[in-house]
Amino acid sequence: MRVMIIGGTSGIGLALGAHYAARGAQLALCGRDPRRLDGHALDRHPHVSRYGFDIRDADDLRRAITDFGRDGLDLLIVVAGQYADAAGLAAQPELGPRLVQTNIAGLVDAFDIAAELMRRQGHGQLVAVASIAGLLKDYPGNSLYSASKRAAIAICDSYRKALAPFGIAVTTLVPGYVDTARLRELNGGDAGAKPWLQSEADAVKHMSAAIDRRAARCVFPWQLHLLVRLFNCLPNWLRGLRGK
Ligand SMILES: NC(=O)c1ccc[n+]([C@@H]2O[C@H](COP(=O)([O-])OP(=O)(O)OC[C@H]3O[C@@H](n4cnc5c(N)ncnc54)[C@H](OP(=O)(O)O)[C@@H]3O)[C@@H](O)[C@H]2O)c1
Repeated sequence: MRVMIIGGTSGIGLALGAHYAARGAQLALCGRDPRRLDGHALDRHPHVSRYGFDIRDADDLRRAITDFGRDGLDLLIVVAGQYADAAGLAAQPELGPRLVQTNIAGLVDAFDIAAELMRRQGHGQLVAVASIAGLLKDYPGNSLYSASKRAAIAICDSYRKALAPFGIAVTTLVPGYVDTARLRELNGGDAGAKPWLQSEADAVKHMSAAIDRRAARCVFPWQLHLLVRLFNCLPNWLRGLRGK
């Protein structure tokens, strides 16, 4: 099995990489700075290659996917994502375009390039990591990040329909909070207060099982999913109270 993970050099992507390496996959781990893998158990692994590029650069993206995909590509997982909350975006407006180019345009480019290759080989699976924030209807803490993840979910839905006739599955992974170094960094070093915080290992169990069964969408944990669904049923005026 040949697996490429864009955003595979840390956090959720790297944990998924370890899972597929343990299953004997030929693996490509990608990020802007692949030196982040230095010293990791997957560094120097005989079945792991690493690629350094920015998903916003379509030419570099194409070069990497084409290079690894020369011997086939069974699974492309796009994990790469940028986060900024409303306050961060107000303070640094330049983060907005960067976030959209990474979380939306980069995802579309990666899917297009990989789908072209998978159509030629007659099979394959595309996977994107969105976020449960993308399922929340308009709420006061809404930011461009949640909008980008909502877009990622919708983008996966359209690619799924378009690619089904070619035997290519599209799976959207929609996690709640996962205890990665990045989440801890965004929360002053400790993400322990986040509701239904999951370990990377638990997240990988959910994600890899959904990928194996070629599920259309996997939202987890169920408790947070239920809460989001209940919240979305509230009338607008009551939803608005949440941020006051
Ligand atoms: N952790 C959570 O609680 C949580 C919850 C829901 C959804 N998510 C989503 O899950 C994904 C991963 O989150 P994480 O916590 O594991 O974050 P992370 O550790 O920061 O992982 C992000 C990965 O993407 C790469 N990346 C970022 N920007 C890139 C770009 N422009 N081009 C290429 N690679 C890029 C990073 O490497 P470089 O920085 O070296 O490029 C890294 O490998 C994100 O999309 C996030 O929105 C996370």
